[in-house]
This record gives sequence, structure tokens and C-alpha cells, in this order.
Amino acid sequence: MLRRRKTKSSQIEITSPDKRIKCRFTIKNGRIGYSVYVNDSVLIRNSRLALNICGEGVLGDNFSLIRAQHIDHSETVEMPWGEDRFIDNSYHETSFFVAENRTLGRIMTIRFRVFNTGVAFRYEVPPQPKFRQITIQDELTEFGFNPSSVAFKIPAFMPDRYEYNYEKARLGDLSEPVHTPLTIKTPDGIFGCIHEAALYDYGSMTLEAKNATMRCVITPLSDNTKAHVVLPFSTPWRVVMIANSAIDLTKNRLIYVLNEPPNQDFSWVRTLKFIGIWWAMYVGEWTWAPGDKHGATTAHAKEYIDEAVKLGVSGLLIEGWNDGWEGDWLKNGVNNKFTVATPDFNLPEVAKYASKRNIELVGHHETVGFVDNYENQLEEAYDYYAKNGIRYIKTGYAGSKMIINGRPEYHHSQRGVNHYQKTIEMAAARHICLDIHEPIKGTGIERTWPNLLTREGARGQEYEGGSLSPSHACYLPYTRLLSGGMDYTSGIFDIENPKKRIFTTIARQLAYFVVIYSGMQMAADRPSMYSGRYNELFNFIRNVPINFEKTVPLAGEIGEYYVVARKDRDSADWYIGGVTNEEGRTISVKLDFLEDEKYQATIYSDAKNSDYKSNPLVYETNTKKIKSGDTLSIYIAPGGGFAIRLQRL
Ligand code: NOJ
Ligand code: CA
Repeated sequence: MLRRRKTKSSQIEITSPDKRIKCRFTIKNGRIGYSVYVNDSVLIRNSRLALNICGEGVLGDNFSLIRAQHIDHSETVEMPWGEDRFIDNSYHETSFFVAENRTLGRIMTIRFRVFNTGVAFRYEVPPQPKFRQITIQDELTEFGFNPSSVAFKIPAFMPDRYEYNYEKARLGDLSEPVHTPLTIKTPDGIFGCIHEAALYDYGSMTLEAKNATMRCVITPLSDNTKAHVVLPFSTPWRVVMIANSAIDLTKNRLIYVLNEPPNQDFSWVRTLKFIGIWWAMYVGEWTWAPGDKHGATTAHAKEYIDEAVKLGVSGLLIEGWNDGWEGDWLKNGVNNKFTVATPDFNLPEVAKYASKRNIELVGHHETVGFVDNYENQLEEAYDYYAKNGIRYIKTGYAGSKMIINGRPEYHHSQRGVNHYQKTIEMAAARHICLDIHEPIKGTGIERTWPNLLTREGARGQEYEGGSLSPSHACYLPYTRLLSGGMDYTSGIFDIENPKKRIFTTIARQLAYFVVIYSGMQMAADRPSMYSGRYNELFNFIRNVPINFEKTVPLAGEIGEYYVVARKDRDSADWYIGGVTNEEGRTISVKLDFLEDEKYQATIYSDAKNSDYKSNPLVYETNTKKIKSGDTLSIYIAPGGGFAIRLQRL
């Protein structure tokens, strides 16, 4: 359908396929704006859409609508791995072609898609009569939510990147920029989440409250601009996920369908469960750096490979294997060598042994943010792993800024974004999968690049020992995890180790494997913890899948608790996990989502007297027969959790 309007003021509405969500595009006095309505109530009041271009002024004032083009789209997207195999991609799209009224005659398109679960739009700038390259000074996009809404946020532009505790605040009071996904609860009880999809070659979006409206602040480059781009150019999708309840919000998968399907063969990608030469460093038994207690030795690696075989997990991560982890590693990381092993670690020998025992090695590149040093070795480093049959790499960017072209840049700036993308493509060309720590946030690009199996990008268990509260994991499903999977490094059983006390109950460590999705799941403790006293708990970790057919969030409130069920992609079995904050509670869930009639349930839960502070190690295991439609009632202790395996009978 084609509509032509030549008047200065225009107003066109797009509705979601189910007509519940409405988006109104307007040009008033030459200014471009949009608003969003849910069930005819305002969710986003009229908000500005414009780009400020260096030396060229604002693109978005003094504009008229030239034409609007409408498309109805309906499709089911199949994902190679993840939380859901099928994702609905039905939307009504309208592209607004707009042109400047003045002599400059600049043009652009704003493309809107309205789904049953949210709204997305982006700016598309074609080559202009006068110029082919632009520098973005600012993106002036606004999201006019009610300022009295509650926001669940982490701060942006801080030294530890995305690794902060979530806090609640009144939206209108957010005076400092915050990261997306930014989850919002309006006074009308609607849940929204502002995020972005398909972030390429551009700074990532942060948000700040200005004059009671949320404004986009693109992460700056060191030259104080936001992005240098070549035309034609599209911004990432600006996405507002919308739901009637917190638990429904956690079903949102819009960011994936707003990304393109892959343009190469990724049938070689496999999700992975692995252990690591890792937690022993956190509890001070071993070190990353060479010396008496060096973790990454040939002997330890072979021993851990044997342990992985015994435990029935498929992979082993080895950190601290390479030259450079000496002394003050945060400073010395600038000298890290990614193709040179320490003298006590023989990489080809370890790789051969792993292959003989059918264990995948997860290689490790800790760049400490020294991107120049890493990029100088990038090709050689990836070739080196590929030559040794290593098909998984964990990368890391500890350090408060990246050093790129000799200058300090934010991890989430355009230069940072482009660096991460280079590693993903470098890996894909060699059939290598990635787990990125200190990453750029997820924007659904895993759909196009499924070899990016997981990333960190939030506080994970490495912050245990005092800096993680039980509520943290109860915020994640409603916030960070709306941007994709996370390597939380779950499964620590050595709860009471004084070097790194874990403030959870032991049953909760199993719950994490269901609650926090990750395409690469690490059973993060030392294998000795799994083979001994807690072997029965490890059974759950061994069996829980990484690739799910579908996910059914069951119950929860933001920052308080979360219960989710997931069906295995390769069997008829289901898995349920639940976590709570500092408050103990009894959860009742109706098992009406089960397709088959009868299941054998194995339940790992807290005991009546469990407590994350005073009694974290007690737990109960029970087996019982259940039927579809039964109601399951489970007690979760303060800081606790539970995990259930349902095997079809
Ligand atoms: C921080 C990462 O999150 C962690 O997993 C890693 O072990 C250390 N950096 C060292 O690279
Ligand atoms: Ca980290």
C-alpha cells in the first residue's frame, strides 16, 4: 500500500497484528516524532526522532513526509540453538520516506515495525546529493515513558563496564546514563524494555533522563563524536519490548528476529558444557601466572581432561596458558602473547590428548582490553588454535577502557563494537565458537553469527565473596537476559570456602543452569567438588541440556524471584529452575504446559532449614511421579533455589 502526503504535518498509525499496540508517526511543524499506545492508553508520549550530524546540523527538523510504504509480514524463524527453537516474526511495517523542506534537500527513511510484543524502528540514511560519509554527533531519539515509572538499571560509562548490581529508581530521576536493556514498569502496570537490535559499526545506546523524558546517548568515541559512517547507513533497531506482566516480558525474543539470517553455513556450530582450569585460581589454589602454583600446566590439563571424561562433560577451558600473565597482569597484559605458551604448558600435546579423549578444549585470550596488541596477533592466534583443533575460544577484555589505535575507547563505543565483530568473523572463518567476557552487550546478532555462543556482560559468580546479593540473579531474567544468554559460571559447590564464600544455597547452584541460559555452560567448580560428596547433585548438571525446544517462564517478580521451565530439544524431557532473593518463599506452579501425560520428577531443593548465610549446604532430593496439570509446590529458602528434571514415562 502506498500513501502520498505532501503537506508539512502528517500522522500515520501502524497497529500490531493483534491490534493491541499502536504506533503513531507524526511530522508536526517539520519535526519528526512517534508515540506508542497499548490498549489505547499512552505508553510513550510523542517523542523526537532525529540525528545530529557533525558539520551538517540536525536531520529530523524541517522535514516532510514524501511517502509511506506498508508491508505485512508473517514468518516463523527457526534458531539453530537457544531458549526457543521457533520465534514468531509477525509484524506490520511502515517505512516513512522523509525529505528536508529547506534547500539542503536531505533525505532519510525511518522504518517502523509493530509486533504483538513490541515496537522497533531505525533510521536509514541513503547517500546524499552533497555527501557520502557522515559523522554522528548525537542521536536525538527519545522514549517518552511516564517519568513516574520504575526503572531497573545499571549505570553506564563505569570502569567495570556492565558488571554492576541492578537498582530500582524512578525513571524521571535517572540523572546519570544507564545501559540497555532498560526495563521499566509504568504506573499502569505495563512492562517495557528499551533496547537495541543488530548493533554494527555504531556506538551502543545508553539512556539518560532529560526534562522528564528518556533520551538516547550514544557511547562516544575518544574524539568526542559518536560514530563515523559511510552511506548508505542504518542505525541499529531501537526496540521497545512490551508486556502485561514481568514474567511475560521474559518471553520476549524480538531482538533475534530483528537480525538477519546467517549468510554462510553454520551447521558446524555446537553448544558446549565444560569444566575449567579456573575456579582453583579464584580460591587461591592455583595461579594464572607461571610459578609453583601455576594452573595451566600440561600435567593439570591432562588430569582435568580425564576428569571431564569421568564427569561426562564435553569440554575443558584452560586459562593462564599463554605468555604474559606476569606480575601486575592488568598492566602487563599489553605484552600478552597469544601464540606463545608458558614453558610448562605444551599446547599441541594437550590438544592431542584432548582429541584422543574426545574433549573439546576452550582456548583463552585475555586481552586486558589492549585491543591493538590483540589485533596485531589476531589472525595468527586464531590460526594457531584452529591448527591445534581448538574450536572454542573464551576472550576477555578486563580493563576499564580498550586501547584502540593507541587511544582509550569505551568497550561499547563504535570502535569497540567493530573490534568484537572482527573477532566473531575471524572465528567463524575458522569454524570456531566464542564466549566473550567483558563483551559488547547482546543485540541478537547471534541469529546472524551463531558461532557467538555466549557472553558475560553482567556481574557473574566471579563477584561472589561479598559483592553479589541473592536478588542479583532475580533481576537478570527481567533485564540483562533480555539481550541474550550469559556465561554466569554456575555450579560452585564449594560454598563455604573462606577465600571465596558463595552467598547462595547449594541447590540454587543447580537452578542457575535452567534460569540463566547460555549456549556454552560452564560447570565452574573444580572437578574434585563434583566427584565426591556432591556427586548426586552433579547428576543434574550432567543431564541438563544447553539447547532447548521451548521455554515457558512460569512465575516471578523483578528482583524477587523467577521460575522457568524449558523443554530439551533432543528429548521429551523438561527442566524447571527457580531462584529467590533474600526472602524464602513457597512457589506453586501448575504443570499445565507439559504435552505428555506422565513424568518422573527428580527434585533438588532447599531444606526447610536452608539459608544462604547460615546453612547453605543442606538440600533435599526427591523423586516422584507427576502428571500434566498437577500443581507443584516447592519451598525456596532465603538466597536459595531449586532444579527439577522431568523425564517422560
Ligand atoms: C574476567 C573474566 O570474567 C573471568 O572469567 C576471567 O577468568 C578473568 N577475567 C581472567 O581472564
Ligand atoms: Ca568479567
